[in-house]
Amino acid sequence: MAQRAAADAPMLVQLRGVNKHVGMVQVLNDIDLDLARGEIVAVLGPAGSGKSTLCRAINGAERIDSGRITVDGQPLPRRGRELARVRAGIGGVFEPFNLVACRTVLENVTAGRLAWWKAAAPGARRRADALLERVGAAEHAAKYPWELSEEQQQRVATARALARDPKLMLFDGPNPALSAELARSLADDGLGLLLATDRPALARSAADRVVFMDGGRILEQSPPSEFFTVPRTVRARDFLARAHDS
Ligand SMILES: Nc1ncnc2c1ncn2[C@@H]1O[C@H](COP(=O)(O)OP(=O)(O)O)[C@@H](O)[C@H]1O
Ligand SMILES: [Mg+2]
Repeated sequence: MAQRAAADAPMLVQLRGVNKHVGMVQVLNDIDLDLARGEIVAVLGPAGSGKSTLCRAINGAERIDSGRITVDGQPLPRRGRELARVRAGIGGVFEPFNLVACRTVLENVTAGRLAWWKAAAPGARRRADALLERVGAAEHAAKYPWELSEEQQQRVATARALARDPKLMLFDGPNPALSAELARSLADDGLGLLLATDRPALARSAADRVVFMDGGRILEQSPPSEFFTVPRTVRARDFLARAHDS
C-alpha cells in the first residue's frame, strides 16, 4: 500500500554523477544510484571500495566534490538545521553504535525519539518494547549496553534508529543481526533500505537489487538472481570467489 501511494512521489534517494576524492584517491567515482520506497538495495564490494563513504555521503555526514544527491526529491542540504531535518528521516546503523553507556537498552531506544525525561512515558515505553521485540532484543530491555555482545548492540541500535520513524535506513558493516526477514518487513512498511556489506549471503537473501562497487565505482547493478549466477565483471567474479559466506 505504501508503495502504491508513493507511485507518483519522487525517488526516495537519487545520486547523479557523485564524485569525491580523498588525497589522490577517487573514493566515489561518478556514482549514479536510485533507491525507491519499499526497496532493498545491497551495496556489495571489497574493503575500501567506497561503501561506507557512499553511506556517509547519503546521510550528509560526508561532503561530496561534485554531483547531486536528493532525498525525497530535495537536494541534500549542506549544513545546519535543514540538513538536520533531512537526517532525522534517515536511520543509520553504523559501528561504533554509540549507545549511551549509563542508560538501559530500553532508555536508549526511547531516547532515539525523545528527551530522556519524556522517554519515561508509558506510550514511549510500549513503543520501544515493540521495536525491541521486532529486532529480536526484547529480553535485553533492562540491561546496559556493556552487558551486550556486538550483535545484540546492533539490534538495539537498529531499534533506536527505527524509533525515529525514518523513511530510509542505512546499514553499514557486517550486520550480523540483520536478517532478510527483518529487512523485508521494514521494506514492506514502505522504508527504503540500503545495506552496505561485504556479506554476499545477506545481499543474496535480502536484496531486491545488488550494486557492486569497486575502487569507488559502481561496476554492476542487477537483481541478486542475476548477479550471483552471472556476474558480468571479472572484479565481481573475483570478489564472489573470495567471499566466505556466499
Ligand atoms: N577520511 C578518509 N581519509 C582517508 N582515506 C579515506 C577516508 N575515507 C575513506 N578513505 C579511503 O576511501 C576508500 C573507501 O573507503 P570506505 O568508504 O571506507 O570503503 P568500504 O566501506 O567499502 O570499505 C578507501 O581507500 C579508504 O582508505
Ligand atoms: Mg566500510
